[in-house]
Amino acid sequence: MAIDIKSPKEVEAMRAASLMAAETLCLVGEKLRAGMSTEEINTIVHQDTLKKGGRPAPLNYRGFPKSVCTSINAVVCHGIPGPQILKDGDIINVDITTIYGGFFGDTSATFYIGTPSAQARKVVEIARTCLELGIKEVRDGARLGDIGAAIQQYAEANGCSVVRDFVGHGIGRRFHEDPQVKHYGRRGSGERMKTGMTFTIEPMVNLGRFEVVIDPDDKWTVTTVDGSLSAQFEHTIVVTKTGSEILTKRPKPLRLSENVATVFA
Ligand code: MF3
Ligand code: CO
Ligand code: CO
Repeated sequence: MAIDIKSPKEVEAMRAASLMAAETLCLVGEKLRAGMSTEEINTIVHQDTLKKGGRPAPLNYRGFPKSVCTSINAVVCHGIPGPQILKDGDIINVDITTIYGGFFGDTSATFYIGTPSAQARKVVEIARTCLELGIKEVRDGARLGDIGAAIQQYAEANGCSVVRDFVGHGIGRRFHEDPQVKHYGRRGSGERMKTGMTFTIEPMVNLGRFEVVIDPDDKWTVTTVDGSLSAQFEHTIVVTKTGSEILTKRPKPLRLSENVATVFA
């Protein structure tokens, strides 16, 4: 499938959908606390999205039953909200995708519940830096492989691993479009980025091995094979002549927890 290049008007529409997703993610950050269920997170995301005039993209996407993905500790991605209660020391990735004006915006962050362990801080901080380093590689003419190489190099230099089975993706009028954006690989490989390309970068970083398993019962929940912690951050971006614009940039600092500094990026 060919890569869909967005016109300035289309990028403007994507900016609106992406901002909506970013705002809902900020709202979740303010509300998260120990004792809350992931079902409550789903309710917050669902209601806030509808209130803003958007639609939660995960709901009924390929049979996904909820409006947001909530992935705790060793869950890598695609965790399904439900009765599970957040407890002190957990880490949780909240992945929000909003449809607005015919376009999708997709963003996630990993939050700390209460006081994180040193291990939790390590994997979350490395995942966040991996996203930043990946975004720095983006500009017209650079290669998609440059993004993966930068991310893999940093994660592995710090004793962590990068998930192979799930990748970033083109995004626009559809949730997942070409190209695939791998979070590992070799510099100079892959397709050239072009102004007006819109895609996500969403590295999943594990404290232990990179291999993952999918829950055979729910067919969605992805977990590290060795039970090690996993963290992820995601932005939707557009390639520009000189670099990139983060379409899901937060309008205000994101509260990762009451005990850890807020972050903008
Ligand atoms: N938001 C995820 C991504 O970043 C996709 C979730 S698919 C769902 O691509 F069905 F689980 F919502
Ligand atoms: Co995505
Ligand atoms: Co996402």
